Amino acid sequence: MTILASIEEMQAQSDAWRRKSFSIALVPTMGALHAGHMELVRTARRLADRVIVSIFVNPTQFAPGEDFEEYPRDLETDCRILREEGGVDVVFAPHLETMYPPTSNATKVEVYGLTDTLCGPHRPGHFTGVATIVARLLNICKPDFACFGQKDIQQFAIVRKMVKDLNMDVHIEGVGIVREPDGLALSSRNRYLGEEARRQSTVLSMAVTRAADLIASGVRSASVIEDQMREIIETSPLADLQYVEVVDGESLARVRELTPGRSAIAATAVYFGETRLIDNTFIPKVPD
Ligand code: PAF
Repeated sequence: MTILASIEEMQAQSDAWRRKSFSIALVPTMGALHAGHMELVRTARRLADRVIVSIFVNPTQFAPGEDFEEYPRDLETDCRILREEGGVDVVFAPHLETMYPPTSNATKVEVYGLTDTLCGPHRPGHFTGVATIVARLLNICKPDFACFGQKDIQQFAIVRKMVKDLNMDVHIEGVGIVREPDGLALSSRNRYLGEEARRQSTVLSMAVTRAADLIASGVRSASVIEDQMREIIETSPLADLQYVEVVDGESLARVRELTPGRSAIAATAVYFGETRLIDNTFIPKVPD
């Protein structure tokens, strides 16, 4: 496993692989790796001959006051975890100044249409930061495939739209949510939770599971589903609910009634102290 920090070296490595007709899969991460990331790595390995994991804490997707400064950074531990997992050829870990030279007034990528709901209104500018860095990582790593976790389902939808709208020659692969035994979706931010908050944080997965159960049992009213999700989250005295929303699975627009045959998402974001957690359930096809 080689660790590269230079854009030119990464591009040269990918060019060399492509000349040999090796397919390439990229797993973009911000480090603080956990079992959810390893699932992305295993998916990447199944899809392609060569696997790149990028590790870069991207400042432009954090709003002022969010946790950019505190975000856990430990490249050595991340590389040890990846070596133990195996199957990774290159870790691309550029320095902040490489990606954002102090004088840069760089081009941004704005994906329209999927940011009016869910996390969009609560994190202005976040998805422009995500789309821009992902576009750049795709240009630097030149993969055939890029793997994204479906816990960040809005990010996944936005990246897919960017790739389609800009005719980028890469397949975006979604990978299912990996959970702790008690249901909590794995996230690098879980490590911030105190003992009691960690215990109560299971309300997120309980809420999205209830949403999935209600849809399976024939409930079609978004407000009925949202009310029940809210009720579950409010059983946790430490939970500070940001949103519960039921949206269309393609457009991410709010719906009043779920339409049989279409996909749907029930999602939530909840603060425990300073720590913001998200979770969702994706229904590929609402039953008749
Ligand atoms: O999901 C993440 O870890 C980040 O948003 C990503 C895709 C690596 C872009 O910085």
